[in-house]
Amino acid sequence: MKRTEIKAALQMQDLENEINVKGWVRTKRGSKNVSFIALNDGSTIHNLQLVVDLGQIPEENLAQMHTGASVSATGKLVSSAGSGQNVEMAVSKIELLGQANPDTYPLQPKKHSLEFLREKAHLRFRTNTFSAITRLRHAMIFGVHQFFNDRGFFNIHSPIITGSDAEGAGEMFKVTTLDLNNPPRKEDGSIDFEKDFFGKAANLTVSGQLEAELAALAMSKVYTFGPTFRAENSNTSRHLAEFWMIEPEVAFNDIHDNMDLAEEMLRYLIRYALDNCADDLAFLSKRQQDEEKNKKADERSMELISKLKFVLESPFERLTYTEAIDILKNSNHNKKKKFAYPIEAWGADLQSEHERYLVEKHFKKPVILTDYPKEIKAFYMKQNDDGKTVRAMDVLFPGIGEIIGGSQREEDYDKLHKRMIEMHIPMESMWWFLETRKFGTVPHAGYGLGFERMMLFVSGMGNIRDVIPFPRTPFHLEF
Ligand code: 4AD
Ligand code: MG
Repeated sequence: MKRTEIKAALQMQDLENEINVKGWVRTKRGSKNVSFIALNDGSTIHNLQLVVDLGQIPEENLAQMHTGASVSATGKLVSSAGSGQNVEMAVSKIELLGQANPDTYPLQPKKHSLEFLREKAHLRFRTNTFSAITRLRHAMIFGVHQFFNDRGFFNIHSPIITGSDAEGAGEMFKVTTLDLNNPPRKEDGSIDFEKDFFGKAANLTVSGQLEAELAALAMSKVYTFGPTFRAENSNTSRHLAEFWMIEPEVAFNDIHDNMDLAEEMLRYLIRYALDNCADDLAFLSKRQQDEEKNKKADERSMELISKLKFVLESPFERLTYTEAIDILKNSNHNKKKKFAYPIEAWGADLQSEHERYLVEKHFKKPVILTDYPKEIKAFYMKQNDDGKTVRAMDVLFPGIGEIIGGSQREEDYDKLHKRMIEMHIPMESMWWFLETRKFGTVPHAGYGLGFERMMLFVSGMGNIRDVIPFPRTPFHLEF
């Protein structure tokens, strides 16, 4: 008999025929005459309750069916009053597929801490939380492609191995096949990468932007959605060494078009989650409330679904970096020295505490900051006439801080060339980028959305390690 997925089984109207389901046991409980098994196959947050009549099926057949075991069950669906679902299965045949010894299976039918589950990342998909996150993540990936496809964008696969540093921040992982114990050296003692696989030094990419720009300057509207790698030693709840980034790049757009696109996309993705993941969001909302029940009322997060709807309804606040610095500098928070990094003067780089103050305390809604000092931003951003600022754009979200970083790009050859020299960007690995400003250059703009930061926001989870299946962070590469 063909397997029916539990999601489909729970929605069946026609209860006449026997069906077969397969999955993993979440819990088993029972009385003298009847045993109840909650079965889950990942297709939905909900379990199918299997009701086993011990008069028909001897109890010893169920002996191995502990939490974590895999089973195949056949029977008729019957409407159910008790299981929290409309239907349950009256089992006529049940078979053990794979056992899970209860003495060694790490996931007991009780609440485990997220930290514990990170150490069991090979099994954590079997928990409600991670199966909900996995389905939500899938839906969001789908939503991203839907959004751009519907608007005539082309998806570009930007390279993962590169010979250039897109952000110029020097936080790159090296890729090499040289013998690290005995690398070839040049006369001055430095390593001779000409003898390496690519004949030059190679790295994992930090961003697909530069390649997206090349494509946009012919295809007009493109986006990348790929893995990016940063060797920054930030052990925070919002940084990964390997994360996924969505980077649209649009010819003829200026910074205002760029902000409009970012805002429209973020709203679209939130609505996509609400429309397509209602059950999982309801579960995640409850999970968050349980987790925060011991917090003081004013420290608790807004209920997840209300928070998502709230962002759908409120237009983002747009202001310049300079205006933001004024707000921060004059805030009581700053005067009472409550920032770990006090704001003293224009030019200061904003820390996540400042971003979150603006969003959560001052404006109480998402914020887009523009026109940052050129010293704290990348070389490729369009220079403003004031000689001090660039057309940067960061989108700041409640609970997260920066979720998007982007800008209008410098399209003027001479200005870009000069800035690259000032910032010591190596021309020999970047000449091709500069050359696009020589041939048919046009204004253009783009941004990068950190996919896991978006997942944090939509799921209400508190740590970025819990919204990607296999997090890579300093000293963690187990699974
Ligand atoms: O602000 P960033 O560094 O911008 C860029 O890389 C540009 N090339 C994007 C562009 O204009 N096409 O990174 C963009 C976003 C951040 O706003 C943040 O959401 C996310 O990427 N991000 C990280 N997410 C997780 N872990 C990290 N270590 C991250 N670093 C950045
Ligand atoms: Mg940034």
